[in-house]
Amino acid sequence: MAIISNSISEAAALLKQGKLVAIPTETVYGLAGNAFDSQAVLEIFCVKKRPHFNPLIVHTHNLEAVKSFVLDIPSPLKKLAENFWPGPLTLLLLRDGAKIHDLVTAGNDQVAVRVPNHSVCLELLRSLDFPLAAPSANPFGYISPTSAKHVQDQLGDAIPMILEGGSSQVGVESTIVGMGENEKVQIFRYGGIGAEDLKAVLSYMPEVHSQKGKTLAPGMLKSHYAPAKKLVFGDAKSLIEIFKGKKMAILCFTAKHEGVEDNNQLVLSPSGSLEQAAQHLFSHLRILDDLTVEIIIAEKVPDVGLGKAINDRLRRAAAER
Ligand code: TXA
Ligand code: MG
Repeated sequence: MAIISNSISEAAALLKQGKLVAIPTETVYGLAGNAFDSQAVLEIFCVKKRPHFNPLIVHTHNLEAVKSFVLDIPSPLKKLAENFWPGPLTLLLLRDGAKIHDLVTAGNDQVAVRVPNHSVCLELLRSLDFPLAAPSANPFGYISPTSAKHVQDQLGDAIPMILEGGSSQVGVESTIVGMGENEKVQIFRYGGIGAEDLKAVLSYMPEVHSQKGKTLAPGMLKSHYAPAKKLVFGDAKSLIEIFKGKKMAILCFTAKHEGVEDNNQLVLSPSGSLEQAAQHLFSHLRILDDLTVEIIIAEKVPDVGLGKAINDRLRRAAAER
C-alpha cells in the first residue's frame, strides 16, 4: 500500500531518489517521475502498463521552466500559455533532445508540457530542479483518478506515495494543443479548456487535428477511459428502450430516468452545469462500475464547452475493446 500523505517534502525526497509519486492536479491525479531521468520514466510505463508508443506530459511550475528543455515556443502557443497557465492546457513544443529522452515523447520531436493549477502540485514542482513527467495515475485504458483513494485502489501496491490534494476540481484531463501545418493552432485532445475559450484568445476557432493514421495521443485512441463493464453512450431514453430486460445503470446528465432502479442512477449535475458534470464524471463512472449491473448507459451531454471533453471521454469509454 502507498502512503497517502500531504507532505510535499516527503514527495520531493522520493522523486529526487528516482521514485514515483502520484500527484494531485486540478484535472486528474498524475503518476509522476523525474522527466530528466529515463529510468524513472521507464518505471512510469511499467506501473501503468502503458504501451511505449504513448508519450507523457511534462509538468513544470511556470513558462520559464519550460524554456530550459524546449527549442522554441511559437507565439500563438505562448499567448495561450500566458492566458491559461497555470491551468488545464497542454502545449506540444519542439523538445531539446539532450534534455528530454525519446521515451518521454515516444520518439516524437515534440514534447507535451503543462503548468497545473493546483497549489500543492505547484509547490512540489517549485521545490524540484527537474520537471515531472506524469500521465494520469490509472492503469492504461481505465478511468482516470480524481482522488487519492482512486489511485490507491488501483496503483497503491506499485508506488510508495500518493500526495494528497483533495478531489480534482476540473475532473477531465487537459486540452492538448499544438501548431498545425498551416501555422494555426490545432486541438489534439478536448479537455478542461473549452474550444470557445481558445477561440477568444486566438480570434479563430482551432481545428481538431486529424491523425492520419498516427497514434500520437493515446487519449485519442478509440478505446480509452473505459470502465470494466460494458458502456453504451448516447440518448438515454432510446438506450433504456433498446436494453430493456438487462440490469442497467445510468450516468445521467441533469435528472434520473423512468424505468431503471433509482439506486442504479447517478446525476452529473442537477443544474445542468458542464463544469460540475466534468468534476463528477470519472468518480461517478467508478461507482457505477462497481454495481452489480450488466451495462452502463452514459447520457450524452450538450456538445459545447467542457461538454465536448465529457462526450469525447464517454465515446471512447464506449468504444469496442
Ligand atoms: O490533465 C492532464 O493532462 C493529465 C494530468 C496528470 O496532467 N495528464 C494526462 O496524461 O492526461 P495522459 O498520459 O493520460 O495523457 C496524455 C496525452 C496522451 O494522449 C499523449 O499521447 C499526449 O498527451 N501526448 C503526450 N506527449 C505527446 C507528444 N509528444 N505528442 C503528441 N501527444 C502527446
Ligand atoms: Mg490518461
